[in-house]
Amino acid sequence: MIRVRKIAHAAYEMPDVDKQVEYYTDILGLTLVERTKDAAYLASTVDHHSVVLSKGAEAKCLRLGFQIGPDDDLGEFERQVQGHGIKTERKRDPEPTISDVVTFADPKGTVMEVFKRGEFAGQRFPTKGVVPHKLGHVAFHCADVKTVTNFYCDVLGFRVSDWMGDFFSFLRCGPDHHTINLMETGANRHFHTAFEVRDWAHLQTACDYLSLNGYKLLWGPGRHGIGHNLFAYHRAPNGLITELFAELDRMNEELGYFEPRPWHRDRPQKPKVWAKDPSAANLWGILPSDEMMK
Ligand SMILES: [Fe+2]
Repeated sequence: MIRVRKIAHAAYEMPDVDKQVEYYTDILGLTLVERTKDAAYLASTVDHHSVVLSKGAEAKCLRLGFQIGPDDDLGEFERQVQGHGIKTERKRDPEPTISDVVTFADPKGTVMEVFKRGEFAGQRFPTKGVVPHKLGHVAFHCADVKTVTNFYCDVLGFRVSDWMGDFFSFLRCGPDHHTINLMETGANRHFHTAFEVRDWAHLQTACDYLSLNGYKLLWGPGRHGIGHNLFAYHRAPNGLITELFAELDRMNEELGYFEPRPWHRDRPQKPKVWAKDPSAANLWGILPSDEMMK
C-alpha cells in the first residue's frame, strides 16, 4: 500500500485569527509566509507552511495535510482510498506550493489532504520566539477511538506505536513515535498540537520565554511514559492547547523497537498496550490538571 510519510500541515479556524498569528510568530517563532483574505500561512523551514489559520465561529482543527513519498503515485493513492468505500476529491492548486491534492474526511470529520511535496520553500529558522524544529503531532478527543484508529492505519498507512488501555492510541507514519494520537472521551474535537524543540535546554528556554510573555503552563515539564517525550503544555489564544516536546521515541522500523534510551523500562521498548497507570502519562509523577481536559 502507499503510506503517508509525514505530517505536512494542520489547518485551524478560530474567532480571532490576528491574535493567533501574533502568537505563532512572536511567541512560537514560526514565520508568517503568506496572508490572503481567507487564510494565514505559517511556516517552519522547508515546508511552505506548517499551520494554516482562518476565521470561524469556534477554535477547531479542520484539516490535516500529509505527504506521500516522491516516487508514490497520487492517483494510485486516491484509488486505494476509494477502495475502502471512501469518497475522495482531487483539487488543483488548493494552497500555495501544493499543486495536486487528494482530499477526503476521516470518520470524525477532519479533512485529510494528501499530496506530494514538489516544491520546498527552504525558509530559515527565525531568530525570535521558541522556534521549534517542526510540527510534530496533532492529538484529538474522539467518540470512537477504534474506528478512527483503524481508519488511519488502513487508509493512510499509519502504524500503532502504543495504546493506553483501550481508549488512547498513538500512531506513527514515520520514525517518530506518534504523529496522531486519539483519546476516546465521548466527543470529537482537537486536544493539542505539538511542536518539537531541540532538547531539555530548549524546553527550559521555551518555558521561561512563555512565562515572560504571560503564558502559564497547564502541565509539565515532565516525561511521558508513552512515547517518553519531555513535555510542557500551555494554552494558546482562542483556547487551543500547544505542547512543546523533545526526546520523543524513534522507531527502528526494520527491527520493530524504539531506539534504546536510559529512561525506558522495557529493553527493548516495543509497541504495546500500557496499563492505565499514572506513569504511562508522566514518569516523573505529576498528573495533568482538570484544565488540560477543557
Ligand atoms: Fe502530545
